[in-house]
Amino acid sequence: MALQLSYLLSLLFLILLLPYSTTAQTSSNQSLGSSLTAQEKDSYWASPSGDFAFGFQQTGKGGYLLAIWFNKLPEKTIVWSANGDNLVLGGSKVELTKDGKFVLNDPTGNEIWKADLAGSGVAYAAMLDTGNFMLASQDSSLLWQSFDHPTDTMLPSQTMSLGSKLVARYSEMNYSKGRFQFQLKMNKSLVLQTRAYPMDDSYTDYWPTPEEPVGSDFPLVFNQSGSITFTTTNGSIVKNISSNPGSMQDFYQRVIMEYDGVFRHYVYPKSSLKSRSWPMTWSSLSTVPSNICNFVAIHGSGPCGYNSYCSLGDDQRPKCLCPDGYTYIDPEDVMKGCRQNFLSQSCDEALPESDLFYFKSMPYIDWPGRYDYEYFQGQNEDWCRTACLGDCFCAAAIYRNGKCWKKKFPLSNGRMDSSYEGKSLIKIRKDNSTLKPSGADLKKKDQSTVILIVKSFEAEAKDEDQMILADWAYDCYKDEKLELLVENDEEAKTDMKRVKKYVMIAIWCIQEDPSLRPTMKKVVQMMEGVVEVSVPPGPSSFMSSM
Ligand SMILES: *[C@@H]1O[C@H](CO)[C@@H](O)[C@H](O)[C@H]1NC(C)=O
Ligand SMILES: *[C@@H]1O[C@H](CO)[C@@H](O)[C@H](O)[C@H]1NC(C)=O
Ligand SMILES: *[C@@H]1O[C@H](CO)[C@@H](O)[C@H](O)[C@H]1NC(C)=O
Ligand SMILES: *[C@@H]1O[C@H](CO)[C@@H](O)[C@H](O)[C@H]1NC(C)=O
Ligand SMILES: *[C@@H]1O[C@H](CO)[C@@H](O)[C@H](O)[C@H]1NC(C)=O
Ligand SMILES: *[C@@H]1O[C@H](CO)[C@@H](O)[C@H](O)[C@H]1NC(C)=O
Ligand SMILES: *[C@@H]1O[C@H](CO)[C@@H](O)[C@H](O)[C@H]1NC(C)=O
Repeated sequence: MALQLSYLLSLLFLILLLPYSTTAQTSSNQSLGSSLTAQEKDSYWASPSGDFAFGFQQTGKGGYLLAIWFNKLPEKTIVWSANGDNLVLGGSKVELTKDGKFVLNDPTGNEIWKADLAGSGVAYAAMLDTGNFMLASQDSSLLWQSFDHPTDTMLPSQTMSLGSKLVARYSEMNYSKGRFQFQLKMNKSLVLQTRAYPMDDSYTDYWPTPEEPVGSDFPLVFNQSGSITFTTTNGSIVKNISSNPGSMQDFYQRVIMEYDGVFRHYVYPKSSLKSRSWPMTWSSLSTVPSNICNFVAIHGSGPCGYNSYCSLGDDQRPKCLCPDGYTYIDPEDVMKGCRQNFLSQSCDEALPESDLFYFKSMPYIDWPGRYDYEYFQGQNEDWCRTACLGDCFCAAAIYRNGKCWKKKFPLSNGRMDSSYEGKSLIKIRKDNSTLKPSGADLKKKDQSTVILIVKSFEAEAKDEDQMILADWAYDCYKDEKLELLVENDEEAKTDMKRVKKYVMIAIWCIQEDPSLRPTMKKVVQMMEGVVEVSVPPGPSSFMSSM
């Protein structure tokens, strides 16, 4: 009974609040038939004070975003957008049609976006000084407002109802839906979550901790003085999320679910203030969570991309860094993660390659979570290194106080934490130049072996012309009598498995049909054991078929 009553009261509060925050504004009305066209020249409707504008903004890659922004700031900070997943070309048009629809069409007339109206009879549209854009009927009843369809930002006087969320954009300049969201769940819990990008589902709640849940029967209000609180109908604060020490007269404010997974409250001094203590830029008042690098995702890569690790900078912003031996997949988008810049260890038992790798020791770095596939206790660090070195699946090992964890790809949830007592041992190939297709750094001996075999085949083919002694060599291979080919080489005799492999590669190299011959890169890969050597056909099978 008590719950029902408080719920009704909170609904009443919302109903009272919404018309109040909208009708109390003076606004420049846009009547039926008004439209804006995306073009390089400014194309927008400003609010009466000029603080906010609704219209088209050109974003980095040349497309246009239908958006609302702070219009007096040089940055033109965007607070809402309609088509982040689907930028439009110049010449696209947003129109309040004569029959009362509000639609965005591309230049060929395809509908890209439209306002989902709560009823019919739209008479006008208005950009309000709160930053809210609304569509209303003749009697000024509200039919649609941007405050009810937030993207990643909330402004003072905006409230969040149950089930609504702020979804982070993909990156600073990419307004597609990204990897994090802030949600007021239907069960009244307020959470930060990772998203199953590119789907809308959520993966892991990473704030608050389960021990200290945040929620209330009352709505979440970002009030006119810039406090974000769960507030009762009589004005008592149930829970304080963030508050602003300055006043609304002096500061612009916004809270945003940012692309790096942090929910931040920003203020910007209004130009008339000429404040000395605040820089003329957005300053962050509070961040939730305090250290984004600390959460461990069950699914997904964690705060940074796969194979990278998260380090909290002095500016309290997360940095996504690559371990030694790795580089960013996309230097323009460091949250995409890192790739190794060397060939992986061969899993060919004949060529275990343990001697071709070493470990880079990275103190304070951990890759917690479910990607450790083996765990050992009571061993020293050398034992841990040897165990990972001899295992081609082992990408890195974590060693801490006699405990050893083997990690497989992709590494996830990587983080640097100066209080962490363990260390990461990243496995790196000693000589990664074999990545170059020239093959210049093949081990000399191996290279000369292959050249010898190829040369001897070639010589035989030349001397005897019709391509018979080569068949003799091929027959040795086919009949598994390879020792006849290396009769004087005692060392080769001790490793006939390797000789067989090289002979197979050589036979591929002297195929009559050039299209069957492998590239040098492939030869290198076959020798390294990265690529299987398949059974070669007889070198003159092509000739004999003629
Ligand atoms: C906007 O239109 C509505 C409905 O016609 C009217 O009540 C309101 O006064 C208009 N506002 C302005 C600023 O013209
Ligand atoms: C934004 O990022 C997504 C994911 O990488 C990509 O598919 C999309 O094309 C990007 N949008 C722009 C405008 O660059
Ligand atoms: C809301 O749901 C989440 C799980 O989705 C749960 O962890 C949390 O305890 C629930 N909160 C309440 C108040 O029931
Ligand atoms: C906003 O909330 C703060 C903290 O609860 C309160 O001190 C302030 O009076 C509120 N302002 C308005 C305009 O309601
Ligand atoms: C305001 O409401 C809260 C919760 O309903 C209640 O605990 C508190 O006593 C009320 N305060 C006043 C001043 O009425
Ligand atoms: C709300 O919390 C902030 C810290 O996050 C604190 O500085 C502020 O005083 C609190 N405000 C109220 C009204 O409790
Ligand atoms: C591997 O190659 C990269 C890029 O060419 C280079 O920066 C790095 O130092 C190399 N690593 C080793 C171990 O040679």
